[in-house]
Amino acid sequence: MQVLIYPSYEALSVAAAEVIAEVVATKPDAVLGLATGSTPRALYKELIRMHKDEGLDFSHVRTFNLDEYVGLTAEHDQSYHYFMHENLFKHINVNPQNIHIPSGTTHNYPAFCQWYEDRIEECGGIDVQLLGIGSDGHIAFNEPGSSLGSRTRIKTLAEQTIDDNARFFKSKDDVPIYAITMGVGTILEADKLVLLASGDGKAKAIADAIEGPISAMCTASSLQLHPDSLFFIDGAAAGNLEMRSYYEWIQAKMPGAPHPD
Ligand code: F6R
Repeated sequence: MQVLIYPSYEALSVAAAEVIAEVVATKPDAVLGLATGSTPRALYKELIRMHKDEGLDFSHVRTFNLDEYVGLTAEHDQSYHYFMHENLFKHINVNPQNIHIPSGTTHNYPAFCQWYEDRIEECGGIDVQLLGIGSDGHIAFNEPGSSLGSRTRIKTLAEQTIDDNARFFKSKDDVPIYAITMGVGTILEADKLVLLASGDGKAKAIADAIEGPISAMCTASSLQLHPDSLFFIDGAAAGNLEMRSYYEWIQAKMPGAPHPD
């Protein structure tokens, strides 16, 4: 695990975007695992800038999103299909046929979930998976109590997540109760994991994930099992880390490590 602490949300986003861009530059048909929510927005802006200003080429890239709300059509302005189109896909040269996002409107969820798993495998597995973290420590929609070996499936959202996400909807009652989500086991199979967190609302979840026991009660703690997981966080999200000065020492001494300056 590498814990990389940056002075601002913008700085951590740019540094994490460089990791994704490096994967795409070295493997033009890379398989990218993508996330939605507030946190990755600035990273996507930076990837768009790199595409426009530096010619970063997404034409052969394949993408798999983590999750989607059950019941929202792709056109719904709070669906993750819509989010990805607005915040990334319409601004870069990704081939629409290479985009995969779980369907929120399929009639056969078990079959769809199996197809999604099989499709990831057919594409050779995910090279780099981008993640946010919920204030309850979830990754994707793997809420507390999710098996650390879980696969793509339907999950019932925790009340905390419904409260957190109500800000995107007209009212709390409009937040879907179910989501289709990659499992923790699915996520852990990616070659590299890049988790972003910003703000003091994430400080407890980040401390539990990095320094707590590996537990289904904080599914982000499963990243401790992964050989190549990177946490890009700001000072506020790092606020509860007991070993913070040690992580900063490692970051400062690491040759070639992404640096705050
Ligand atoms: C979204 C996702 C979720 C979010 C998490 C944090 O695709 O997988 O796990 O990453 O809920 O959301 P924000 O970034 O809005 O705080």
